[in-house]
Parts: sequence; C-alpha cells; structure tokens
Amino acid sequence: MIAYDKNINLFTLHTRSTTYQMKADQYGVLLHTYYGPRTGNDDLHRLIRYADRGCAPNPDEAGLDRAYSLDTIPQEYSGCGVGDFRLPSMELELPNGSRSASLRYTGCEVRQGKYALEGLPAFRGAEAETLVIYLEDAAAQVQVELYYGVLEEYDLITRAVRVVNRGGQSVRLCQCASLCLDFPRSDLDLITFDGCHMMERCPDRSPLRSGVQGVGSVRGTASHQHNPFVVLCEHDANEDYGICYGAMLLYSGGFQALAERSQYDNARLVMGINPYHFTWTLAPGESFTAPEAALVCSPRGLGQMSRQFHRAIRERLIQDPFEGQRRPVLINNWEATYFNFNADKLVEIAKTAAPLGIELFVMDDGWFGARNDDNRGLGDWWVNQEKLPGALEALVPRFQELGMRFGIWIEPEMVNEDSQLYREHPDWVLHIPGRAPARCRNQLVLDFSRLEVRQHVYEQISAVLSSADVSYIKWDMNRSLTDVWSAGLPPERQGETYHRYVLGVYEMLGWLRRDFPHVLIEGCAGGGGRFDGGMLYYTPQIWCSDNTDAIDRLRIQYGTSFCYPVSTVGAHVSVVPNEENGRVTPMETRGVVAMAGTFGYEMDLSKTSQEDQEIIRQQVAFFKEHYDLIQRGDYYRLSDPFQNGPYTAWEHVSPDRREALASLVTCNTHAASSFLNLRLKGLDPELSYRVNGGDVYSGAALMAAGYPLPLFYGEYQSMQFYLEAL
Ligand code: GLA
Repeated sequence: MIAYDKNINLFTLHTRSTTYQMKADQYGVLLHTYYGPRTGNDDLHRLIRYADRGCAPNPDEAGLDRAYSLDTIPQEYSGCGVGDFRLPSMELELPNGSRSASLRYTGCEVRQGKYALEGLPAFRGAEAETLVIYLEDAAAQVQVELYYGVLEEYDLITRAVRVVNRGGQSVRLCQCASLCLDFPRSDLDLITFDGCHMMERCPDRSPLRSGVQGVGSVRGTASHQHNPFVVLCEHDANEDYGICYGAMLLYSGGFQALAERSQYDNARLVMGINPYHFTWTLAPGESFTAPEAALVCSPRGLGQMSRQFHRAIRERLIQDPFEGQRRPVLINNWEATYFNFNADKLVEIAKTAAPLGIELFVMDDGWFGARNDDNRGLGDWWVNQEKLPGALEALVPRFQELGMRFGIWIEPEMVNEDSQLYREHPDWVLHIPGRAPARCRNQLVLDFSRLEVRQHVYEQISAVLSSADVSYIKWDMNRSLTDVWSAGLPPERQGETYHRYVLGVYEMLGWLRRDFPHVLIEGCAGGGGRFDGGMLYYTPQIWCSDNTDAIDRLRIQYGTSFCYPVSTVGAHVSVVPNEENGRVTPMETRGVVAMAGTFGYEMDLSKTSQEDQEIIRQQVAFFKEHYDLIQRGDYYRLSDPFQNGPYTAWEHVSPDRREALASLVTCNTHAASSFLNLRLKGLDPELSYRVNGGDVYSGAALMAAGYPLPLFYGEYQSMQFYLEAL
C-alpha cells in the first residue's frame, strides 16, 4: 500500500510486514526516513536530526543554516559534487566538462499495477502498486524518475531509475545506480556471495568498517566471483532472528554493490551498473533506464528474507508457462561424453535413461559446425552431419520414440577464430583497434551490442530450433568480456558498449521467448557465472556450477539459496570419482543433493550398474512425487555447511505446513560420536506429523526438541525425512 501525504510530501510504502518511507523536505531534497519492520504512517522525518558538523557544506537554499548539510542527512538517491561526500548514485557530465548531480523533488504519481521496463527484466504484479517520484537537476535540465513497485504480499519493494534529458544539449551519464539505501545506523554486517569458477556464491560476512566496502564485476557478466545480491543485517542476525535487508539487482552485466559506513555512523548501500567504463550520452529528449533492483527487509532473520525472495522470484519473475508446470527431469551428455559422441551414442544413453523416468535428453556442446573440441566451431550453428546424419530431423524422433523430449546446448555470444562465422566477419568480435583481443577457452566474444550480429546468430539458431521438436535450450557463456570496444559506436559512445551488450543478450532472449514460448531455457556461464535475477526473467533455471561434487555443492547451493529458489538451481547427479575433485560419494547422496535443485543426471547411464539404475529409478520417482513440496515449498536452511559441523541439512515445507521434507548429508563422521537431534523449522506446532511413515511427533516437539538421528557410519551418507500431518 502506498500512502502519500501531499501536505508534507511524505511517501509511506507498506508491505505486509515492512514499511519504507521518504519525504521531500523544504528544499525539495528527497530524504530517506525509514525502512524496516512495519510501522504506521508516522512522519519519521523527526528521527533525522540536524547539527552544525565540521567541514559539512551547506547547499545554497539553506542560506546561513550551517546545520543543513547534504553530507549528513539520509537521502533517497544521492547526487555528487555538491556537498555529499558519501557514495554517489548518479554522476552527470555536462558539455562544460563539469561532473556532478544535484536532485530536487518536482512531483509524484501513484499507479495501480507494477511498472515494466522496456528491454530490461523486471518483476511483475498486476496486484502491485507503483510510485513514481520525479526529481530534477535544474542546471543539467535532466529529469530523474524513481520507480517503486510495492509487492505487498511478497514483502518486496522494487526500484528502477529513468533519466530523461529535457534540455537542449547532450549530457553524459557517468553513473546511474539502481538503488541507494541510507541507514541511520552502521552497526550492521554486510554479507556478499563470492567465489570462483566451480565454487560460486560462498557467503562472506563481516561487520561494516569505516569507509567503503563491497563487491562488483568488471567482467561484463555478474561473474563467478561475486553475485549481484547482498545482505545488510544486524550483527546478531541469524536464520531466525534479527533485521535483515536483502538487495538484488536484476542485471546480468558488470555490477557494483558498495556499502559505506560514514563518519557519523550511518550506512549507505549503493547498487547498480558498474561505473567502470560506463558512460551514456543522452542527446536532447533521450532517456536511459537503469536496471531494476529489489529489496526485502525481514524482521525475522535471514531465513525469512530468503523465503520472501524465493516466492517473489518464483511467482513474479519467472515467466509463464514455466512456474506452473512441472519441469522435466533431464539427462545431459556433457560429463558423459564431452565432445566425443554420435547419434547412436546419445540414443544409447537415452535408452537407459527413459525407463528410469528421465524425461528430457539434453545434447550438450559439440553438435554443430566443426566443434570436435573447444578450439573451433563456435559461431557455426548448423548440425554436424558427420556426427548426426540427417540432422535434428532424424535425431529427435529417436528420442521421442523413447518417450523423451529433446534439448540442445548453445553459446550464441561466442565465436572461435576457427569458424566460418569468424572467417567471414572478423570485425564482429569485441576488440580494441590496434590490439589483438585476449582469448579465453580459445574463444572471442561477439559484439552483441550490434543488431546485425545478433540477427545473424539468431537466424541460424532459430532455424535449428524450427527444424525439429526442441523443447529445451541451455544458453551458455564461457568467458568474461575483455577488449570492450564496439565498431558500431562512435568514440564518445564507447562507454555504452558493456551495457548495450547486456541489452543485446536480453533482446535475443526475448526473441527466443517470443518465437519459441514453450522452449525451456536454462542459463549457464561456465557453470554459475551469470546467476542473477536478470537472467532468471528469461531462463527459469540456471546451471548452478560446473562443480557437480555433492559435498562442494552443499556449500554452493547453500550460498545460492540466500536469494534464489530451489526451482532455479540447475543441479545434476554425476559420476564418481567426481571429475572435478575426485571425491567419491554414494549415489543416494548425490541424488539427495541434486534434488535440492532442478534435478537431472549428467553421466553415461549406459555404463551404470543395475544397482545404481535402481537407485536412480527410485530417486526420480521420489522427486516427481514430491515435486511441489521441493520446488514450491518454503525452504529452510537447518545448518551452515561452512561451519564444518557433522552434517548439512535443509528442509522444504509445504505452504499449508501439512507436509515437509528434511534432507541431511553427513560431512564429518567420527567413531564414538554424540547422539544428535535434528531440529526442524516451519512446521505447525499444533499438528502431529508422521515421519517416514512411522513414528508420530508433534510439530512443536520436532521444532523445539528435534528428531533423533541415527549414529553416522560411513562417509557422506544422506537421509531424508518425509513428514506428513495426520
Ligand atoms: C560450460 C558449461 C558446461 C558445459 C560446457 C560445454 O563449461 O558450464 O556445463 O556445457 O561448457 O562446453
């Protein structure tokens, strides 16, 4: 609900359990007065106190009032260069060479329904409300529109920013953040989700220290190294307690998320497109839209924060028809064959997979052009008929006969120099004139900021998709951007290349959604290098990591779960010893871990034992039986795998709390170990639950006292406890 008190220009946004408030003051400065657990419509401006602070500049409007300084008051969207020395949200370069931004309130608008953003991903919500606040920089003749989407039931507040040049000359945006959030306190922890290829999104938590700290990416993607999702929370916040603020950016390019603890112990969080090599020229009348950011404040710990994001992402970001449908259990041939396959080999794997209940066969890298290894072929999107005679027209029916659907891997943004595409269009790659571009996995990056490049690739790929009944695509992206310069832009607009590249990726994903609306797209970037809310708008699931070891995955999936729901997390069972780290884990355990994601297999099933095949058959049946509970239930983290405790456990609870599934993997096994009880969460204390068809416990007892675990024996064992209310 949006409450606007026009007499005092006070804006109070209420969600079910939170309140967000802003006020335009006597000088038109838009103050941020509150964000936290739900309050009434009180004017919380009274919490902002003014004092004459040393060296604090005073804006001209304040006259001789030395107590009014932009450097000490909480603001909704910070400018720069005119008296606030903290993190800027916006920087404008005018034709005279000045670089600053000074914003004042000019008006507002409340609309029914949630705003959308042209060409950019955004949450939706017909039931939501939109607030638009208009600001202007009078000297620059620039209008800044702040958009707020209030998704009350989800406790979600979205934000976006649009900048319009209303003057007669060009101005340049040098920074345009999506989100600025000021706090009247700094006793907060910052949690970021960091890592590397094969170990993505490991939480890193530390108290805010003086000055600026944060994460970002200059790789042109969200990156394996840092995720565009951060949390600020109270020092003692844990899964179930404490105020936590989560901020996600729906953006798949280079981002920046910075937090600053300033001199008077206030904090500011600024998040948006990374200003590195970013400038955007706005000719008269032109506009720029910054990507959407979304906020959740949980008054009750990190678990609740995650569950709010999960619900909102599932129900208001993932596009139809993929939220409503059960997604297929898949088998992917990558770790089974790598590049070494032909049609018969693939069909051989499928023949074992189909009777086990696996529904979709994904043909990974290696099916096109001269792609017999990872040094050639990217860019040539036609079927290699030496491997696959008769192309997809002949191949796909062979899977359909087995009752399976069929999907393919693509990597549209990339090209190898050894390809027909590159030989014909060497100028289509990102490169800086006079410099030979850096290779990575021996591939170069196509300049997706250019329409003709996107169109060429799309024509080839859509011809393949139209040639047969393809129901799934894995859209991969296996390197970071370097040598960022576009032959399609004049010198003064080169700073637009990174962002135009991302817009180009979104545009092609949009074409796929438009022309092949029933094709499920799984995102991927060398595993989890582009796992973000922007991609999820187009690709309902994302391959979480190239690391398929079940024990490493406990950590990766734990970190991923802070923002992203189970139904988005691509997770597969693969062979042991694991190909990435050599670890051996039981088939049961690999299944338990992978079914905390979209679930599938990535191994040569034709080589598995009868015993393993029987386990797989049971796993697939179990997953399908409990699909709704696992994929749409509320997710609870029951332990932190980074604490090196005896086990890692998590739980899915149905929305009506009548069903739950707790899963546990033992991580440290010792002789003469203690007896442990697993305390569950999220149950109805009043209900009685039957556990695995046996004993009955009250919800209250299972949550307060726990469920008795057997002594652990053997390495990396797993257990699942299915609870059903009587
Ligand atoms: C990336 C992906 C893998 C696989 C290979 C194919 O590494 O993450 O799953 O598709 O590319 O080259």
